[in-house]
Amino acid sequence: MVKRICCFGWVIALGLLLLVASVSSKNRENQANDLVDLINKNRTSKKLPALKTNPGLGCMAMQYIKECRFNCTQTNQVNCKPPENDFTEIFGPNCGVELPTFGTISGLVVGCYQKHLEPPEAFRKVLVHDNGTLLVLRNRTHREVGVGIIRAKRRKGPYFWCALFGSDERNSSFVLEDLGKGIEQKEGCYSGSGSFCSSGGQNGNFSFLVNGVWMLIFCFFVSGI
Ligand SMILES: *[C@@H]1O[C@H](CO)[C@@H](O)[C@H](O)[C@H]1NC(C)=O
Ligand SMILES: *[C@@H]1O[C@H](CO)[C@@H](O)[C@H](O)[C@H]1NC(C)=O
Ligand SMILES: *[C@@H]1O[C@H](CO)[C@@H](O)[C@H](O)[C@H]1NC(C)=O
Ligand SMILES: *[C@@H]1O[C@H](CO)[C@@H](O)[C@H](O)[C@H]1NC(C)=O
Ligand SMILES: *[C@@H]1O[C@H](CO)[C@@H](O)[C@H](O)[C@H]1NC(C)=O
Ligand SMILES: *[C@@H]1O[C@H](CO)[C@@H](O)[C@H](O)[C@H]1NC(C)=O
Repeated sequence: MVKRICCFGWVIALGLLLLVASVSSKNRENQANDLVDLINKNRTSKKLPALKTNPGLGCMAMQYIKECRFNCTQTNQVNCKPPENDFTEIFGPNCGVELPTFGTISGLVVGCYQKHLEPPEAFRKVLVHDNGTLLVLRNRTHREVGVGIIRAKRRKGPYFWCALFGSDERNSSFVLEDLGKGIEQKEGCYSGSGSFCSSGGQNGNFSFLVNGVWMLIFCFFVSGI
């Protein structure tokens, strides 16, 4: 009888672990990457070249909205002007951007919304919502792009999206230290980071994995009796 219960435990634990594997392999559900794809689709539809994803730019985009996270107005405007120097003095260092590789920033679009939006809606309603922002997106000068997403509070909005564009031709601008890993971020998410996140919350959600592990431990105990 005990053996049989244990068997069920194993099946459930295995099922959970498989679920984790499938969830985390699905492009790791990084909505910042989805937004980069949408930006590039919009550009290529106008015969403009697609932009390369630059994780250094993505992380700095996230730092920018992190600094602005309490400045979303009732009408969803980001009412915030971080000083220009913050890029080299705060955002870059927080990400681990190697200072000698700091390139040229050629554009920025930023927006906020009271609740979470899926990437296509975030693109249309927030990031690229008027002619001005569309002009920035379609500027011929850009070569690279990075997108960041963050929410103001741990479990609540407003949510912030930011795309940062760079114009460097060479392949080596805004390089993240530690072989491209950069400094680990405790919250938010950005394009090209490899970690998954859906709504600007924590980088990754391992609750499935934790459940699976507990189930396995439980099983070992039961089968040991
Ligand atoms: C955010 O808003 C507050 C209050 O309106 C203002 O004092 C602050 O300077 C703003 N932050 C930035 C980075 O602009
Ligand atoms: C494109 O971006 C560059 C660099 O930010 C800027 O100088 C230029 O005016 C922009 N061009 C257009 C058409 O907006
Ligand atoms: C590009 O973005 C603009 C602004 O959101 C939108 O109106 C337009 O339909 C988009 N074009 C494509 C091909 O997605
Ligand atoms: C935005 O651009 C479209 C097409 O280029 C134009 O028809 C429209 O009047 C513009 N809107 C504003 C507010 O400038
Ligand atoms: C540029 O980056 C791409 C993709 O990361 C890489 O495959 C390529 O070798 C790089 N080129 C140079 C000249 O560094
Ligand atoms: C993690 O996932 C669980 C189950 O899907 C969910 O209940 C929980 O809110 C998530 N935690 C975070 C921080 O997103």
